[in-house]
Amino acid sequence: VSGFAPRWLALREPYDHRARSRALALALAARLPRDRPAALVDLACGTGSSLRYLAPLLGGEQRWRLYDIDPALLAAAGSALEGWESGAPVRRAPGGASGPGWSARWEARDLRGQLLALTEGADAVVTSALLDLVSAPWLEELADACAARRLPLLAALTVDGRLRWTPRDRADEAVAAAFRAHQRTDRGWGPSPGPAAAAACAALLEARGFAVRLERTDWRIPAGHTEMLLEMIEGVAGAAAEVSPRPGAVQRWRRRRLARAAAGVLSLEVGHADLLAWPL
Ligand SMILES: C[S@@+](CC[C@H](N)C(=O)[O-])C[C@H]1O[C@@H](n2cnc3c(N)ncnc32)[C@H](O)[C@@H]1O
Repeated sequence: VSGFAPRWLALREPYDHRARSRALALALAARLPRDRPAALVDLACGTGSSLRYLAPLLGGEQRWRLYDIDPALLAAAGSALEGWESGAPVRRAPGGASGPGWSARWEARDLRGQLLALTEGADAVVTSALLDLVSAPWLEELADACAARRLPLLAALTVDGRLRWTPRDRADEAVAAAFRAHQRTDRGWGPSPGPAAAAACAALLEARGFAVRLERTDWRIPAGHTEMLLEMIEGVAGAAAEVSPRPGAVQRWRRRRLARAAAGVLSLEVGHADLLAWPL
């Protein structure tokens, strides 16, 4: 349904978890209730990566509700959680799972137009790798729902358009510019703020009386991490070629980059930001 393969989400997860802001996760933890289980809602959960990152950091008792439009990803969440090296066994149930200090239920839902209903009874909203996909009106819907329910929001790993390849190539900047332009196109939610999404979300929340912290949480993909580098080269080249006035030059860039990656001499940093917002 969504076009995000479980294999891609599994491949990126270690890079996501290394990049994410532990400080913002702990700052969220400080805002959760401690006299009862905390209710957390994960929007566009994929296979549950945010739960795997956050559950050990948040502490206390946690009740998670995971929503995603793609039933195949939710089906994969069960085995991803079972395979999670959390140091303690994970128990599976139909449509859910539990481990020490946490339990989770998941449900296939389209997030558009129903955030107020989906956040009922929540203590916090989390999401990851989502804001750069969505539209400006949906960011408003998110900010409105958080404001109406006075909920903290942790939105991790929003792409901000920076791509830093080492060593440099003469076409890196032109390809990155086309990649950023592609990010502003409609990828299922309407035209997207793309690389400006985290800043746009911060502004919407500040306008609703929230305090906001943003931190850079860039992926670092070292030389020799060939599988991830090849995915990134193909992904960036594919997106850039769709919008570039010079698709042939993008293809030539792609071939040069694939050769460098295969030779084990290419590394990459991908700009991301984590955002934590809470009502004042
Ligand atoms: C880049 S993935 C991120 C998944 C997960 N949060 C993670 O960090 O691994 C984006 C997710 O958005 C979900 N998605 C896309 N459109 C959606 C919609 N309209 N409603 C709910 N989820 C949607 C996709 O199925 C996918 O799981």
